[in-house]
Amino acid sequence: MKNFLIFGPPGSGKGTQSVKLADKFNLKHLSTGDMLRAEIAAGSELGKKMSLIMAKGELVPDAVVIEMIASKIDSTKGVAGFLFDGFPRTVAQTEELEKMLNARGMKIDCMLVLDVDHDELVKRLILRAEQSGRPDDKDPDVIENRIDVYKEKTEPIIDYCRRHDLYYPVDGVGSIDDIFGRLCAVIEKIK
Ligand code: AP5
Ligand code: MG
Repeated sequence: MKNFLIFGPPGSGKGTQSVKLADKFNLKHLSTGDMLRAEIAAGSELGKKMSLIMAKGELVPDAVVIEMIASKIDSTKGVAGFLFDGFPRTVAQTEELEKMLNARGMKIDCMLVLDVDHDELVKRLILRAEQSGRPDDKDPDVIENRIDVYKEKTEPIIDYCRRHDLYYPVDGVGSIDDIFGRLCAVIEKIK
């Protein structure tokens, strides 16, 4: 099993690329954002609590997402590895993920980082708000807060991954297919 993190600020294309990569390389795509939105759509108590935090662009508590991920890891069979999208998002989540994987004879093998400039991120998210609409895309202040939270709480994971030789930056600007090609080239080398 090879396990990949796909990393990058809000709007960098993690979700878009994950679907294509999971399909090509038989990886299980695990997006904590998607799991949380599914809880909200189901109207669960957890979903109700988390929606207030997500609407502001803040992070939900580490314990909530760690528990979600652990149960998915244990219930998934028959894949070549996991592709974690939007998780981990804090250094504490990263350390927990390493522990969880190590306990099951696995590790983090590669961190793919999508590099996209600030103005392009905002442009993509505003466009998505117009087209379909995730509540956290609707308010430009919330978009800016999500980007700030990424810089403050999530970017430090890059240092952690650099120290562990897991860091693979990829240019995240261009056509979806070109970026997919760049990501595939990295994964082919790691496999
Ligand atoms: P999450 O769902 O992870 O959202 P995010 O990180 O803000 O990122 P997005 O999903 O908006 O962007 P993306 O990088 O996936 O890009 P996408 O492919 O969609 O998290 C949401 C919230 O949940 C958080 O704020 C937090 O509250 C909570 N949460 C989630 N995980 C958590 C965790 N682990 N710990 C704590 N809290 C957590 O693309 C964006 C748009 O751009 C799309 O419209 C797409 O069509 C378009 N696009 C994609 N690629 C291109 C391209 N190459 N050119 C032009 N447009 C493109
Ligand atoms: Mg996403």
